[in-house]
Amino acid sequence: MFDFQRSPFIVIWEVTRACALSCVHCRAEAIARRNPEELTQEEGIALLDKVSTFGDPLPLLVFTGGDPLRRPDVYDLVRYGAQKGFRVSLTPSGTAAAKKHKIEALKEAGLARLAVSLDGSTPAVHDAFRRVKGSYNWTLRICDYARECNLPIQINSTITRHNLGELEPLSKLVEKLGVALWSIFFLVPVGRGKVEDEVTPLEYERVLNSLYELSRQVPFGIKTIMVLWWILIAWTFYHWEFNKLHLFWLAPLAWFLGVFGTTYFFLLIHTHTPGLLFLLVGWMAMLWWLTP
Ligand SMILES: C[S@@+](CC[C@H](N)C(=O)[O-])C[C@H]1O[C@@H](n2cnc3c(N)ncnc32)[C@H](O)[C@@H]1O
Ligand code: SF4
Repeated sequence: MFDFQRSPFIVIWEVTRACALSCVHCRAEAIARRNPEELTQEEGIALLDKVSTFGDPLPLLVFTGGDPLRRPDVYDLVRYGAQKGFRVSLTPSGTAAAKKHKIEALKEAGLARLAVSLDGSTPAVHDAFRRVKGSYNWTLRICDYARECNLPIQINSTITRHNLGELEPLSKLVEKLGVALWSIFFLVPVGRGKVEDEVTPLEYERVLNSLYELSRQVPFGIKTIMVLWWILIAWTFYHWEFNKLHLFWLAPLAWFLGVFGTTYFFLLIHTHTPGLLFLLVGWMAMLWWLTP
């Protein structure tokens, strides 16, 4: 069991901001080329050594970006992380450069899960979101490659007013892809994200209610990011189910490491994880941590 007073549940390292896509909402404000100020491989390895001092159980480790595949040393970093005992995930961008041999090399290096973004059920919606024609097909191709080498898949979808109507067809597509987890992000107006693209509070609530209902029917997990309301909805309308299968847990602190080694904290909420007790402990740990 995690002791949240000792370590975060998940550590996310933005290994680069380089990315060939140009998404309308990109919080990382991704750029075409790698920044020479990124952490080097040696600095990255020192960072992983440091994170490993959290001890057992180690946090989940996510290599994100930008497009982490833009770093030629990402395979070595994955291998190093896996050898250190981390459960390593990676989030490649949906581009033509994500070839099969790269996904196989990641698997061979010890990657435990691949997470890709899908923001619409059709090429028209997804490609408009990612602002590169072909991204939808490349994303589905990455999922094929992952399945072919038995690498569990996670789909990340970001909800904005542009794809609000996509939730249902997208959920069907996600189910067809045989994913382990569907992770729903709600637009945060930072970076290239704009306030006017956020959904309204009522729409937010409707989406969360639909997700809750969906989570009771589908074989994969559903996770929401940055949504405290998820807990409130579960608590307010479904609290009698806390003792059943769909229990909600606030993993109180995720540690997000920016591309230059800067740290951000945010909340992460996970379904299908036992217990109300964890929720309370999580909140207490978070208050303890944040109280000066
Ligand atoms: C930063 S991306 C990194 C991985 C990869 N470049 C991608 O987009 O899939 C991780 C997830 O965050 C989402 N995201 C990016 N900017 C966001 C924002 N402003 N608000 C909410 N989610 C955002 C992306 O859509 C993606 O699903
Ligand atoms: S794929 Fe990810 S990193 Fe690249 S522009 Fe889109 S959100 Fe940003």
